[in-house]
Amino acid sequence: MHDPQMTPQPGAAGSRSRRVPFVVANWKMHLTRGPAERLARDLIRALAEVRGVEVAICPPATALDVVGRVLQGSPLLLGAQTMHEETHGAFTGEISAPMLLDLGCRCVILGHSERRQWYGETDDALARKVRSAISHKLLPIICVGERLVEREAGQTDALVTMQVEAAVSGVGEHPDVSLVVAYEPVWAIGTGHTATGEEANRVAALIRWVVASRCGAAAGNALRVLYGGSVKPDNIHEFVRQPEIDGALVGGASLDAGAFAAIVRAAAERGA
Ligand code: PGA
Repeated sequence: MHDPQMTPQPGAAGSRSRRVPFVVANWKMHLTRGPAERLARDLIRALAEVRGVEVAICPPATALDVVGRVLQGSPLLLGAQTMHEETHGAFTGEISAPMLLDLGCRCVILGHSERRQWYGETDDALARKVRSAISHKLLPIICVGERLVEREAGQTDALVTMQVEAAVSGVGEHPDVSLVVAYEPVWAIGTGHTATGEEANRVAALIRWVVASRCGAAAGNALRVLYGGSVKPDNIHEFVRQPEIDGALVGGASLDAGAFAAIVRAAAERGA
């Protein structure tokens, strides 16, 4: 397995004017090893000519090994969908940062709303996971976003601020830290509804401000904010043309190589 210490950290080149666009595929609980391997091969082919964008593929844990082998030697990063905050121990069913590194993972989705909703993941646990990921040099992709009732009650900004503050509470002032935050309104995930580009941009700016105030201006400038929730080839342009949005976290559309490649190309054009 490749050694993540030997390769540059994802996003290391990020700066205010030149944050590298980032598109993340979240395959969720889809695909056994055979179809996962085929989709990974199709993606490598579909993205062979695309430059100026970073791409991560997050298969289910059972397919990390086989997909990792396919991605080896390609620019596509391997990522996991969740992680436990401890390195080892009596935590039945869980997977730790060293285990993900052993499989070649470079990044990990943390605090996805489905983890919060169905598995009771708390902001406290998320903070510990973020800290563990950073200390193991795994890029954390931190998910935040409001539910419909919270949006309708005018609580979006307060809630997102609280979620981001909690998630980075263990990071501290850290000029060199690489962080990714995905703004995913819960009501937009898998529903076909999306936030408007302007509204997503406004919340993305808020997220950057919160990270800057907690982790320092450099971390805020380097932070990549992704939009997530029903991203498709026909709506991605609305998001990536926003100045505060640096890419996308894609669920359903990432299971189709053609659709996902179109989304990645749109993000790459934004970075060009
Ligand atoms: P979706 O999922 O693109 O299917 O809405 C996004 C996500 O949950 O990350």
